Amino acid sequence: MRVLVLFLTAVTLPAQVANMQEIAQGLGVKCEYCHSGMGRGAGPRVDQAAPGPKVEGQAPSRVEIGRAMIAMTRDINEKILLATGKPATDVTRVTCITCHRGVAIPGQLADIVAKTAL
Ligand code: HEC
Ligand code: HEC
Repeated sequence: MRVLVLFLTAVTLPAQVANMQEIAQGLGVKCEYCHSGMGRGAGPRVDQAAPGPKVEGQAPSRVEIGRAMIAMTRDINEKILLATGKPATDVTRVTCITCHRGVAIPGQLADIVAKTAL
């Protein structure tokens, strides 16, 4: 079933799924870390609640955090473009992995290496 869902998703939303794969890889997580049930025949999407202290009564889901991070990353790239004055084709782009480096909560590279080497 899950394979079928992924297949249908890949057929109907190729660009978005490619992007999603990049996101999942950047954070070193599976799709289910943020959501299961990908819409389009798979039933309603189920968003994963993020653990941790609630902000103003309601903790954001990981999809909500992800949505804000996508917007933030877009802003950063626009600012880098302006700051360097380089053409869009030449400028180095910030993506999820630039900060996350394959972990959900970014940290110092030495700490990440120490944790993931075990
Ligand atoms: C870091 C969290 C995160 C991970 C991991 C993630 N997604 Fe998403 N996904 C999102 C966000 C954010 C959106 C945008 C939807 C929105 O704004 O409501 C989205 C949207 C989608 C959509 C568009 C359909 C819809 O319901 O909006 C599909 C399909 C999808 N994701 C599939 C996947 C697949 C397949 C994977 C694994 C390869 C994956 N996602 C991993 C956060 C994530
Ligand atoms: C400028 C650096 C930066 C970039 C770029 C960035 N993030 Fe983050 N992100 C963070 C930091 C820092 C945290 C951890 C905040 C905390 O909980 O202390 C975080 C946390 C998250 C979390 C919550 C993880 C959890 O388990 O609580 C999600 C989901 C997330 N980011 C998704 C994304 C996605 C998707 C992208 C790319 C579109 C992205 N981030 C790009 C800095 C970044």
